[in-house]
Amino acid sequence: MFITFEGPEGGGKTTQINLLAVYLQECGYRVLATREPGGTRIGDQIRACLHDVNNKEMVPQTELLLYSASRAQLVHEVIRPALAAGILVLCDRFYDSTLAYQGYGRGLDLSQLRQITAFATAGLKPDLTLLFDIDVESGLTRRTVGGEEMNRLDLEALTFHQWVRHGFHALAAAEPTRWALIDAGRDPQLVQNDVRRLVMERLQL
Ligand code: TMP
Repeated sequence: MFITFEGPEGGGKTTQINLLAVYLQECGYRVLATREPGGTRIGDQIRACLHDVNNKEMVPQTELLLYSASRAQLVHEVIRPALAAGILVLCDRFYDSTLAYQGYGRGLDLSQLRQITAFATAGLKPDLTLLFDIDVESGLTRRTVGGEEMNRLDLEALTFHQWVRHGFHALAAAEPTRWALIDAGRDPQLVQNDVRRLVMERLQL
């Protein structure tokens, strides 16, 4: 089972994944939690380049290919072998972030993005994708106030992030059986209760 965590900035995905991983391990599942970009030695080097706030001249095409390169490495080196060994894989962002940020946000062609994504992942799709939905202003404020690592994309204008959020909603609406929407603006423990319920329902199917 492959579960991905998606959403705009500041939705608390990372905290939620960590809480869920501990819970699932207590329930007896073998779990691997990873993230994009990164999750491998090579991917972490790509992440540093992608998120460096000094790389202001990076064009959207380069950005797309670097996220995709990090994803290819993660899928082939980590995710596919783990799934083949029967391990439950949780991933903090996956290709839906490319569609939302580089597609809806940057305006790159969605059908081209899907082709590049299919190549990078060799066709791997999540079984379940949780959308941690939060309004853009609150999400960005949470990141700034929470003292989290600020990246090149955090510095984009508000309208960029509004397009990204709209993109996530459109992606979720197009594939309602894969996606579940979670109101991430609430108390983290309430959010975690929803996450556990949705994941356990899916595991019991
Ligand atoms: P995060 O680790 O805090 O979620 O940061 C990842 C950043 O990278 C976030 O701003 C979203 C962005 N991103 C893309 O633009 N495209 C992608 O394909 C991925 C995986 C992330």
